[in-house]
Amino acid sequence: MKNILITGAYGQLGSELKVASEYFPQFAYFFTDADTLDICNKEAINDFVVKNKINYIINCAAYTAVDKAETDSELCYKINRDAVRNLGEVATAHGAAVIHVSTDYVFNGQNFKPYTEEDAVCPQSVYGESKLAGEQELMRVCADAAIVRTSWLYSSFANNFVKTMIRLGNERDSLGVIFDQIGTPTYAADLAEALLKIAAFAEEKELVSGIYHYSNEGVCSWYDFAKKIHRMAAVHCEVKPIETTDYPTPAARPHYSVLNKKKIKTTFGIAIPHWEESLSECVAKLF
Ligand SMILES: NC(=O)c1ccc[n+]([C@@H]2O[C@H](COP(=O)([O-])OP(=O)(O)OC[C@H]3O[C@@H](n4cnc5c(N)ncnc54)[C@H](OP(=O)(O)O)[C@@H]3O)[C@@H](O)[C@H]2O)c1
Repeated sequence: MKNILITGAYGQLGSELKVASEYFPQFAYFFTDADTLDICNKEAINDFVVKNKINYIINCAAYTAVDKAETDSELCYKINRDAVRNLGEVATAHGAAVIHVSTDYVFNGQNFKPYTEEDAVCPQSVYGESKLAGEQELMRVCADAAIVRTSWLYSSFANNFVKTMIRLGNERDSLGVIFDQIGTPTYAADLAEALLKIAAFAEEKELVSGIYHYSNEGVCSWYDFAKKIHRMAAVHCEVKPIETTDYPTPAARPHYSVLNKKKIKTTFGIAIPHWEESLSECVAKLF
């Protein structure tokens, strides 16, 4: 049986991997987070990988506070770039493969059609820059690495936009939500399953290294997303469309970050649900 190390296991995606792992019993799993395995500590990663004979590392650990990163860049780069390099170097030294998660924020948002893996990157924030640097370092030090960029992640675990909209919608009569940022929500449960399908594919055939894009299907603005969340959760609150300039944040976000998912679908035979279908599954779990 092959062994999978999952880092950042208390986060949204890591928690969903714990659930999804039950559907992939061909692997043994080692779930860790900063308290049990700090990915900034290369020696600790090395010891863990050797002791537990790790074959795959799925890296869900990250610095994800996008706005805070603008004034906390040192720690952000330490986790999103340097620690990813640590994982890649240890994996290479012991013949393991890495499945790493990155972000749509590596793009500047000026496209008019969904971003492919070949499109030019140009991050607009410290977080986006640090995630891009992590991708580049991983590819430099590890030949067996699949990098999956995703967008607008939410889950029934941890804090996220879906839970915030339900909470605020129940507290207030009306709410302004940005309508000029367009992308696709991603249910972390779907992404978790896709990541394990990549590992299963690697076991049966080979790990096809490279960059992949994964989100749910479809397109919406944060405003549309919020409206749909409220409808599905039976929250009665007026949602008003506002512009990005009406809601200034320290970090700039891309205006358009829809991802083209053709490569991940054709390479690994992964079927992707529409975002509304997955949102309704998540909302059902919350009640
Ligand atoms: N959230 C989104 O909307 C979004 C969008 C696109 C891409 N992504 C990417 O998707 C991946 C998963 O995101 P997520 O939303 O699941 O993140 P998350 O909920 O913030 O979880 C990240 C986990 O990593 C842990 N961690 C931080 N530093 C660590 C360290 N040095 N060693 C070990 N663990 C550490 C965190 O612990 P603490 O909480 O204690 O720091 C947390 O449990 C990330 O790579 C993220 O960049 C996320």
